[in-house]
Amino acid sequence: MDLGGDLTVDQRVATQEALYDLVLDALPARAGDRVLEVGSGRGLGARRVLRRDPTLVRGVDLVPEQVERATRANDDPRVAFVRGSSDDLPFPDESFDAVLSVEAAQHFPDVAGFARESARVLVPGGRFAVTTFFTRTGDAGPPLAELLKTFASGLDRPHPIDDVLRDLRAAGFADVTARGIGEHVWRGLDRWLELGPRPDRWDRNWLVAAERGLLDYYLVTARKPAGSGG
Ligand SMILES: C[S@@+](CC[C@H](N)C(=O)[O-])C[C@H]1O[C@@H](n2cnc3c(N)ncnc32)[C@H](O)[C@@H]1O
Repeated sequence: MDLGGDLTVDQRVATQEALYDLVLDALPARAGDRVLEVGSGRGLGARRVLRRDPTLVRGVDLVPEQVERATRANDDPRVAFVRGSSDDLPFPDESFDAVLSVEAAQHFPDVAGFARESARVLVPGGRFAVTTFFTRTGDAGPPLAELLKTFASGLDRPHPIDDVLRDLRAAGFADVTARGIGEHVWRGLDRWLELGPRPDRWDRNWLVAAERGLLDYYLVTARKPAGSGG
């Protein structure tokens, strides 16, 4: 995307849609899938999932207002949003073919619990893909809290990427992979924040933190082994 001129809200939405498409390609999402999104926010992702011709789409979010917004924004009968937590998913065992999460797992207090719950609700052979920012090392928390308001407040948590991958393997996932995609994310985000309505002294530090090697934006994929129970 050309980042030279003014960035519009439509362009910002387009970049978020592109992120969803990346995740849906990585899963991969297939026609007929039952798909769960964890941390579904305002429900933008469900509309993107519908383009892949799923049987059913569910979004789960911790915040009731987000669930209400997402419900209002989606009227397809295959889609529904419910309130729930990433480490206590309100769905039966083996009820989804694919689980995805976009820019939400950095909030989750218990990534191991999220991994276990995702494995539980997936059918054997089920597919898993997450994209968001994780730290590159285990000691990035304090410097990130100096640079970024959301880490200072505890809204974002400094989960090291190696711990995320370990938690997924411990939950029984196979083919666990991580790819850094920050080169496609940070400059666009920085430009958006620069042009935003009320840029503050913290905003521009995302690019600084990435360039200092404190964090990266990752695409993480995994698969629940076929023939595995629960
Ligand atoms: C930055 S928003 C991203 C929303 C959406 N995925 C998107 O990309 O447009 C993160 C969302 O995760 C939700 N969230 C945070 N912690 C959660 C948890 N433990 N379980 C479920 N949802 C959570 C928040 O309420 C918020 O709606």
